[in-house]
Amino acid sequence: MSDNIFDIKVGNFSFRNPIALAPMGGITNSSFANEKAKDAGLVIIGGYNLDAATQKAASEMLARGRDDFVSDEPLKLIENEIKAVAEGPIVGVNVRSATIEPLIEAAKIVKEAGAILELDAHCRQKEITDIGIGQALLSDLTKLCEWIGKIKETGVVLSVKVRANVVDDIELVKQIEAAGADILHLDAMQEGAGADLKLIKNVRDSTRIFLICNNSVTNIDAAKNMFTRGAEMVSVARGVLEQPGLVSNLVNRISIQQKDMGWYNAPKHICRGEGDLRGLAFCCMPVKQCPIHNSIAKLGYSAQEFADTKMEFAKGTMLEYGDSTCFGSLAWCCKLSKPCYLRDGVLETLGLSDAEYMRLKKELADYIIENAKKPINGSKN
Ligand SMILES: Cc1cc2nc3c(=O)[nH]c(=O)nc-3n(C[C@H](O)[C@H](O)[C@H](O)COP(=O)(O)O)c2cc1C
Ligand code: SF4
Ligand code: SF4
Repeated sequence: MSDNIFDIKVGNFSFRNPIALAPMGGITNSSFANEKAKDAGLVIIGGYNLDAATQKAASEMLARGRDDFVSDEPLKLIENEIKAVAEGPIVGVNVRSATIEPLIEAAKIVKEAGAILELDAHCRQKEITDIGIGQALLSDLTKLCEWIGKIKETGVVLSVKVRANVVDDIELVKQIEAAGADILHLDAMQEGAGADLKLIKNVRDSTRIFLICNNSVTNIDAAKNMFTRGAEMVSVARGVLEQPGLVSNLVNRISIQQKDMGWYNAPKHICRGEGDLRGLAFCCMPVKQCPIHNSIAKLGYSAQEFADTKMEFAKGTMLEYGDSTCFGSLAWCCKLSKPCYLRDGVLETLGLSDAEYMRLKKELADYIIENAKKPINGSKN
């Protein structure tokens, strides 16, 4: 697959596709990544235990039969493991420590090695939560945010891995973003019910942080359900153990989608109640009673301001055209998944491909969100 069809960036990193291998302690090392995820855009190895307290916890976990990584020299191990991952994917390193200093040391090494650091605020094994880390960090936002701030002082690109539905997720993600993290890696777990797609949409509408989502993804449809709610990347863990070809399969399928449609994580329409705020790019002129009013209010737009903003973007682009469409301009037209001979006729006359139309809609969505009167948390405005 070509490396250049996606435009997915965080800090100085550019991912070749939006599929990631998620960390599994004791399992996801360089050999596993090379064997099972060579086509991924990102492989996250670890979690590695950095200090005496986490090493002890890991030994206890091993003693009761749970895999984990134990090493006398975890930093050396991390350095070697990053080097051992075959070229292609960006490498992330998931880590745990009961104190901040080893995290800072790891951040420096990981940055120097050209990789991403991921702080594990997710692990719910008792041995880890008993020492106040992993998922326990979610209930200690002061410590979590202080650690994020200190780790970021090293200049490393930082992901924070969290489990959903443990605390108030919206408050959590806003604080993680405000503390300076670059990536939120969200396990959208809802106990006994697979991935919480509604939560992904709500998180997308509450933060502009780069979003990697996972939980129970075993096929492209499950991945698309996350992309259409605003995930920039989707990661897989257990699915890879069962289907060794899962990563390659997902990469192939989403690459085809990107080539054909130009916007691999295009949102759903707002009116179906599933689309995140980016879906406003596909909305009609706000002239009737429908869910658009609730969505534009979230961004602080009046109906007139929203209409002006859309037309402001469209001016001078191909979206300006479309006299024969419902509202006189492609700016108001629906997503390609909704069949419409009027829109398709205009696209044909203009010589605008499906992918180009959708790329313009993506730019329009960014413009609507960036120019919001009431910015989403973290907006530059
Ligand atoms: C055996 C195992 C070990 C895991 N170890 C870690 C870990 O060390 N750090 C972490 O952040 N997540 C860990 N996870 C969580 C996964 O990264 C992922 O979030 C979770 O399994 C949900 O994704 P899935 O449904 O694709 O498996 C682990 C999961 C499994 C199954
Ligand atoms: S404006 Fe159109 S697309 Fe948007 S919510 Fe209303 S009916 Fe649906
Ligand atoms: S012309 Fe078709 S695509 Fe455009 S707004 Fe009307 S129904 Fe939607």
